[in-house]
Amino acid sequence: MNGRKESSIIAGGINEVIAVTFDGSGRANAAPIGIINRSGRSRLVLFKGTHTLDNVLENGIFCANIVHDPVLYVKTAFEDIGSEFFEEDYAEDFAENLAENYAENCADVKGCGRRFYRLKSAESYVLFKAVKTGESAESCIFELDFVSEKVIATPVHPFNRGFAAVIDATVHATRYVISRSAELKALIDYDISIAKKCGGERENEAVRMLLEYIK
Ligand SMILES: Cc1cc2nc3c(=O)[nH]c(=O)nc-3n(C[C@H](O)[C@H](O)[C@H](O)COP(=O)(O)O)c2cc1C
Repeated sequence: MNGRKESSIIAGGINEVIAVTFDGSGRANAAPIGIINRSGRSRLVLFKGTHTLDNVLENGIFCANIVHDPVLYVKTAFEDIGSEFFEEDYAEDFAENLAENYAENCADVKGCGRRFYRLKSAESYVLFKAVKTGESAESCIFELDFVSEKVIATPVHPFNRGFAAVIDATVHATRYVISRSAELKALIDYDISIAKKCGGERENEAVRMLLEYIK
């Protein structure tokens, strides 16, 4: 237990993290998700039809991974990554924060900790209990209760417009593959031009992958 009541990692505004969630059979899933952090409250809007929503509804556990790899953002937005990308972990301090439905299932308790999964390559992660507070035809809204966090590595990342442009293009691309909107395509094309101009090797690889996914 690190004694904190709130995360020191999640910043104000929208934090584009890679969420790792898991289902009842222990199959982990990763997807880019925005944590909306305003006035000291963290919330999620999860669209229906995603594994992330299904998993969070099932066990209320949401692990936000901080990574700085544009390829991973593109990959996890469009496909299911393999088990080799994930690491099993146990949260000692989850019990008091536990979703009721999860407390009934103690099969995966190790010591007094609760099992969760994170990305192997995470530089840091923040573990939350997600509580559903609303629903519309397209999505469910969750309030996030902080459980614990860990800083694994502290690499320094000089700001790169190419990295930011890949993330922006990927957000538009997840909508573009459904709507095929010309307006979205124009935004993606602009982002890709910035990614190519300002990005490094990984941004270029991410752009190549993105173009394949939106073909
Ligand atoms: C940067 C970024 C942020 C995203 N934020 C959200 C979000 O907050 N909620 C959501 O439902 N989908 C969001 N998406 C789209 C999901 O990542 C996408 O639908 C993904 O395919 C869901 O994967 P899953 O079915 O494995 O959960 C975001 C995508 C990107 C690239």
